[in-house]
Amino acid sequence: MILSIESSCDDSSIAITDIATKRLIFHKKISQELEHSKYGGVVPELASRLHAETLPKILSECAPWFKELKAVAVTNEPGLGVTLIEGVTMAKALSITLGIPLIPINHLIGHIYSLFIEKEALFPMTVLLVSGGHTQLIEVESHESVHTVATTMDDSYGESFDKVAKMMGLGYPGGPVVERLAQSGDAGRFDFTVPLWQSPLIAFSYSGLKNQIRLAVERGVPEDYPHIAASFQRVATEHLIQKVKKYCKTRPPKHFAIVGGASANIYLRQRLESLLKGFNTPLYVAELRYCSDNAAMIGRVAIEEYARGRNRDYRSIPINPRCKL
Ligand code: KG4
Ligand code: ZN
Repeated sequence: MILSIESSCDDSSIAITDIATKRLIFHKKISQELEHSKYGGVVPELASRLHAETLPKILSECAPWFKELKAVAVTNEPGLGVTLIEGVTMAKALSITLGIPLIPINHLIGHIYSLFIEKEALFPMTVLLVSGGHTQLIEVESHESVHTVATTMDDSYGESFDKVAKMMGLGYPGGPVVERLAQSGDAGRFDFTVPLWQSPLIAFSYSGLKNQIRLAVERGVPEDYPHIAASFQRVATEHLIQKVKKYCKTRPPKHFAIVGGASANIYLRQRLESLLKGFNTPLYVAELRYCSDNAAMIGRVAIEEYARGRNRDYRSIPINPRCKL
C-alpha cells in the first residue's frame, strides 16, 4: 500500500491505496473553507497552521496500516509554499521512521489522475484543468508524455468565481455559491465581453472580465446579483468553450476530460458536452468528490510512479510552489 498526503492549498487530505488493485483503503479530507470564508480567499499562514493541526489527526487514523506501507507519496508542487511544506515534512518523517521510499507528486498530474481513481488510466486524453490556481489545456499522450498547450495569462476560471463571490460578499469558495445564485438569474441580462474572443490565440484570461463584473456590482443593487452571476458564468464559460472549439478544430481529440475543483460546475459540463458532441469526442469527468483537492488522486499517481521505480531520497525532495507542467 502507498500512503499519500495532499496539502497544497486549503484541504488536508491523506489516502491509503492498494498498489496491486488500485483500491482506496482509506481516504479522508478536512477542508478549511469555513475558516477562510470570512477573508474571501485562502490566507496562506492560516492554512499552514490548520494543516499542522489536522494532518496529524488524520494520520493517527492510518496507524493500523503502517506496517503494510511500501512507500509514502506527497504533493510537492505547485501550491502555496507554506502549506506544501506541512505535507512534505510529514512525509519525510514517515519515510525515515518507517524506512520506506518517498515519492514526490505534481498536484496537476494528480488532478489528471482524479479521472482514474480505482480505475485503469485511459490515454491519449486532452484535459482541461480548471481549478482555483490553474486554467490549462493539457495533452496527455501517456504517463510519460504530458504537454500544456494553453494556459491562463492572468487569473484562473475558478479564481474568477471566487473573486466575483468576494465582490458580492458571498464568502469563499465562490464557485458553488455563484453557480447556485446564477440559477435564479437571467444569463442574458448583462452583455459582458467574452475575453480574447477576437484573438487567434488559444489562451485564457479572466482579469478583464473580473473588472467588468466589478463595475456591474458597483453600479448595481443586490437585486441585480443573480443576473450578474448568471451573465458572468455564461461569459466565463463561453470563453473556455470558444478556445476549446478552436483547439478541437485543429486537433480533434480522441478523448476529452475536465478536471479540477471548478469542473464540478454543471453549466460548464453541459456546454462542453454539447460542444464535443459535434466532434464525436466523449467527455470524461472525475467523480464529484474527487474534483477538488484530495489525496486519493495523489495516491493514484503514486502507484504509476512506484511501478516505474521513481522513489526519491527523502532528503532531496524539493518544494516548487510555482512549477509548470
Ligand atoms: O482544485 P481545487 O479544489 O483547488 C485548486 O487546486 O485550486 O479548486 C478550487 C476552485 C475554487 O476556485 C472554487 O471556487 C472552484 O474550484 N469551484 C468552482 C465550483 N466548485 C468549485 N468553480 C465554478 N463552479 C463550481 N461549481
Ligand atoms: Zn487543485
